[in-house]
Amino acid sequence: MNHYYSKNNDNLDSNEKIIRVKIFDKNFHFITDNGVFSKSGLDFGSRLLVETVIGINCTDVLDLGCGYGPIGIVYKQFNNNSNVIMSDVNNRALGLARKNSESNKLDMNIIESDGFELINQNFDLIITNPPIRTGKKKIYQLFHDSHAHLNEEGTLIFVINKQQGAMSAIKFCEGIYNVVNVINKKSGFYIIQCIKWLTKLRRCDKILKCDRMRIFCMLVLENNELMGWFCELQNRKIRKNKRKKKLFAS
Ligand SMILES: C[S@@+](CC[C@H](N)C(=O)[O-])C[C@H]1O[C@@H](n2cnc3c(N)ncnc32)[C@H](O)[C@@H]1O
Repeated sequence: MNHYYSKNNDNLDSNEKIIRVKIFDKNFHFITDNGVFSKSGLDFGSRLLVETVIGINCTDVLDLGCGYGPIGIVYKQFNNNSNVIMSDVNNRALGLARKNSESNKLDMNIIESDGFELINQNFDLIITNPPIRTGKKKIYQLFHDSHAHLNEEGTLIFVINKQQGAMSAIKFCEGIYNVVNVINKKSGFYIIQCIKWLTKLRRCDKILKCDRMRIFCMLVLENNELMGWFCELQNRKIRKNKRKKKLFAS
């Protein structure tokens, strides 16, 4: 049986159609087809994800598992100075992503790759609505491999539903990334941000503001540079992070 996450579903009848999507003030049209994820309209989780990330302007960006291209294309449209690469394992999805970026007049690089197999660069931001149906092992591998493909202070941002294991995904990522935050949440869908820091922290210099919702502080790095740091606490139960606690205890 051919799933949307199969590499090759050329033997599936094609039935291309156009879907129209409005994100804030911008209108988009996308060609979709049989054998690609959410062919009848923009997926709810993908919309929440893209609406959350478009305000985060980064230079090198990867839309991992791009499908017909809605996340990468919308991000690029709102952040025209970013270099956005879209990748997927599914040939039909890649063909559609190519057509859709051209019809939206965007110059984007589209790569066929199983995970990071054929991706040879690092990014400031990796965005993904992960292929949950491929199983936990596969998606955790993608979260893990993303870390090696992020620049310092780079961020992985993904969407996952509570019923599809949002809490265990958070726990898993806390074992790999220095900071894991829930940055948006709607109807059971969580937008999870994982930040990679390589720089060693020396100490916390100053807590600028601390209330039940937020902490703003100034950190001293190993090279004695100062760095501002911000942490939202509203989902305390979810994001209990031992490393963060240690930081403030020192
Ligand atoms: C949940 S869909 C999201 C598609 C698209 N980003 C969207 O939001 O509509 C996940 C995508 O990951 C792709 N995929 C599955 N396994 C993959 C892998 N090993 N490497 C890269 N992409 C993969 C699927 O083909 C599918 O297009």
